[in-house]
Amino acid sequence: MKENSSGILFSIPYEIALVRPLKQTTLQEREEALRAAYYNTELIPQELIYVDLKTDSGVSSLSTAQLAKLAGIGSLESAMEMAAEGNRAFVRLSESFQRIFGFPYMLPVAQGRSAERIWAKLHVKEGTVVAGNMLFPSTRFHIESNGGKVIDVISDSAHDLYSAQLFKGNVDLTKLEAAFKEHGSKLGCVYVELCVNSCGGHPVSLGNLKEVKATAVAHKVPLFLDACRILENSYLIKQREPGYQNRSLQEIVNETCLLADGCTMSALKDFLVPAGGIIATRNEASYQKASVQSFLDGSQPASAAMGAMGVALQEIFASDSYVTSRVEQVNYLWRRLKDGIPVLAPPGGHGVFIDVQKFLPHVPAENYPAEALAAFIYHMSGIRVSKGPPLAPSQTVRGLELLRLAVPARRYLQGHIDDVAEAVQYAYSRCDEIKGLRKIEKPGRSKFEPALFAQP
Ligand code: F0G
Repeated sequence: MKENSSGILFSIPYEIALVRPLKQTTLQEREEALRAAYYNTELIPQELIYVDLKTDSGVSSLSTAQLAKLAGIGSLESAMEMAAEGNRAFVRLSESFQRIFGFPYMLPVAQGRSAERIWAKLHVKEGTVVAGNMLFPSTRFHIESNGGKVIDVISDSAHDLYSAQLFKGNVDLTKLEAAFKEHGSKLGCVYVELCVNSCGGHPVSLGNLKEVKATAVAHKVPLFLDACRILENSYLIKQREPGYQNRSLQEIVNETCLLADGCTMSALKDFLVPAGGIIATRNEASYQKASVQSFLDGSQPASAAMGAMGVALQEIFASDSYVTSRVEQVNYLWRRLKDGIPVLAPPGGHGVFIDVQKFLPHVPAENYPAEALAAFIYHMSGIRVSKGPPLAPSQTVRGLELLRLAVPARRYLQGHIDDVAEAVQYAYSRCDEIKGLRKIEKPGRSKFEPALFAQP
């Protein structure tokens, strides 16, 4: 609780209206579950998990208004009613989105990857170079599959796991200029991810984004955002960037978007829905092309997804308190761990990241220390953590191993988060017992199937 001129501010702007009971598991049951899942915590059945920090994507809790919207749409009986509701949901969503984010054109799609797929088809050709700040693997994939190449121009501080720099997601402007010099007109755009997922959820400052924009304008190329965690990024700007302390989150979101020519967004994170994504642009021709491509790809979202996104936008921006409570919960977990546990610093927006090499220095990379630590934590506590998305090339060359404690929004109470902190501390106190894992190769399994492990 905090006090201000309007009295005492409450810190959690919602209450629990619906609960899902959790099954209490025994050590023995979890041991059996681990064995059945070949020690890959990603394969543990959901009903045997206590707190699930595998991802913050598509797993946040729905509000009563979102549920009512989904139930209302679900009860529509005719195809015509569904189409009419779909249209209404689209109009409401696009009006709120345009008002809050400021882009004149927005196209809802099925999820973030659909947005990236369409965006890349429109903006990337054989030989196009995209300068980005450690872009998410699926963004990279879509750029490369259209014949493009990604140049990583993130600041070196992104690789400095413990230093105090507050905006480790920032673009290094010298690297960006060097990329323009090297690739000339082939460098087709700059693509900036906010709260960079791969390197610890670190934010990008508005000061940096303004300089990136100026560089992009000087070279006559557009600036795009991966804005799926724009709320967390905006909150961290308000906390950390001089001059923004008295600005509302909506103003910061708006100022961020004003710098961009367009954005792609997965709605599964900040819009608190299980499905949906958005492409936004200032260019009408791009919008028309994206609409046709989305139609051809079958990427249109269900009306239910658009309805639930529209409700989320109203709820999120009603005041700053929702985003504050969301990021402060992540911050709380980080503060509980930072003295003693090797966690990346400073805290990011959506999760806490463990430096596995420092946690388990005695387990070599060939014994899968991150997976072994995740299995140990699950065994002891029923809590699931995982490596998260694959690391960027600039991280793998450094031999980095991270375990991501991604915190789903609105889902867990402080008691859950305390249990997570204690489970990680407990694992650290017994880290000598963690010996690593051995990968099992089974004939006929493709490299895309989940890895299977055994005790060494
Ligand atoms: N961009 C970023 C930064 C992401 O973190 C994700 C997904 C996507 C794009 C793709 O969006 O899932 O809707 O297709 N991140 C998830 C995660 C998978 O666990 O971090 P999507």
